[in-house]
Amino acid sequence: MYDSNPTLEGIKTMDESKQGSVLFKEHWQETLALGGKRFYIESYGCQMNFSDSEIVASILNEVGYSPTRNVEESDLILINTCSIREKAEDTVRKRLRFFETIKNQRPGTVVGVLGCMAERLKKKFLEEEKLVDIVVGPDAYRDLPNLIGGAEDGNRMVNVLLSREETYADISPVRLESNGITAFISIMRGCDNMCSFCVVPFTRGRERSRDPFSIVAEATNLFENGYREVTLLGQNVDSYKWENPETGERVNFANLLEMTALVHPNLRVRFSTSHPKDMTDEVLHIMAKYENICKYIHLPVQSGNSRVLEMMNRTYDRPWYEDRIRAIRAILPDAAVSSDIITGFCSETEEEHQDTLSIVEWANFSMSYMFFYSERPGTLAARKYTDDIPEEVKKRRLQEIIRLQNAVSLRHNQADIGKTFKVLVEGNSRKSDLDFCGRNTQNKMVVFPKKEGLKPGDYVMVRVKDATSATLLGEIV
Ligand code: SAH
Ligand code: SF4
Ligand code: F3S
Repeated sequence: MYDSNPTLEGIKTMDESKQGSVLFKEHWQETLALGGKRFYIESYGCQMNFSDSEIVASILNEVGYSPTRNVEESDLILINTCSIREKAEDTVRKRLRFFETIKNQRPGTVVGVLGCMAERLKKKFLEEEKLVDIVVGPDAYRDLPNLIGGAEDGNRMVNVLLSREETYADISPVRLESNGITAFISIMRGCDNMCSFCVVPFTRGRERSRDPFSIVAEATNLFENGYREVTLLGQNVDSYKWENPETGERVNFANLLEMTALVHPNLRVRFSTSHPKDMTDEVLHIMAKYENICKYIHLPVQSGNSRVLEMMNRTYDRPWYEDRIRAIRAILPDAAVSSDIITGFCSETEEEHQDTLSIVEWANFSMSYMFFYSERPGTLAARKYTDDIPEEVKKRRLQEIIRLQNAVSLRHNQADIGKTFKVLVEGNSRKSDLDFCGRNTQNKMVVFPKKEGLKPGDYVMVRVKDATSATLLGEIV
């Protein structure tokens, strides 16, 4: 077991990692000539991880690997992992047990662990999981051909170096499992915030922004290939910043949004995630200016109580969050806002939990992703605070939040009955081939009966007739 590049300590630069993949390309082109190989990849966690898997697919394609959906026929099994909560890691370990049975049937198969769990556990992964051949962190994917080569020679390989520069800006992602209409574009990597509960700064490293021109080029290319919606991705998109090293020209997130909106009026632009401490009115005004920037903001509140927010190190308090919601309502009256919420954070009292319930009601979130607190090793909270809320209390509070959010979502959706929305057709509805589904600008899923000639990628006006807490039901007008 050894690191693929034992001489490089700490930060690896982009150029060094590029060299690795060029060197090994020749080796793999030989392999392709011998019959080509197949890789199978499974992704967990946030959209950024799914987006990274598309970068990985591109890197592997370059060296003669093609993707397969059938794990049984793959030469290389990759699992792109998430560490955000303990449960996410448990799921990965279960999948590894399953891959073990496959590897037992086909002993030559190489198994690789990518992503945040690889970064968090590093070499320990190889000690804990005997079937894993390679462990690769999120900034080391260019080294994959080299690592796979080493594994094929019988070594167990690790590269978990984090980078201050790597953005994979020059790699054109291979769209996996795509509907051909909507796509994600990573605009930055890492996170410089230190929310005390969160493992991401440890698994993804320092925040860095990608060259805006490469982002616009990717969006343009997607549009030319029939895509009609892009979502700009980052852990904290509002702190996007790029400076042209030659001219000193600066691009902030509002500028980037505008540049992307200008690609084409028929290309919708979405983004995620916004951080309440950084979301500016400038961004809201740009959203108001362009019809094709969707009127939807995912603005995680985490807790409705200022003391808990301070312990979470979110660096805003409840009044600040409320001010941001008021700004959205004033500048973008029709925008929907959604949230992430954590229940049962260290020392959270019943009263403080009530504050979270009240902010769900007050902010009128169209939807929320809701979790109970899961302590992550190495985080600020794990070091400073006791995880002292019993699991059944955490879960009961979570149920209360979920119940309230469902009611608020239903009310939010019912208020749309009778309204007409422009919907981008994404494909068949999940329940019936007779219906199409697509989203409106507020990111709400709309289901409606098909019409002759209408196809995925088209825009259509749909009047809402009925609503559940998750979906709007309508008909074409
Ligand atoms: N960058 C985004 C969030 C990324 S993680 C932001 O700042 O909003 C997605 C969500 O997972 C977080 O918003 C939080 O609600 C949840 N989460 C993160 N760490 C968690 C933990 N230790 N336990 C429970 N939920 C957690
Ligand atoms: Fe984690 Fe906070 Fe960064 Fe989001 S902003 S990824 S919650 S540290
Ligand atoms: Fe999970 Fe890593 Fe994303 S921990 S949520 S996959 S950044």
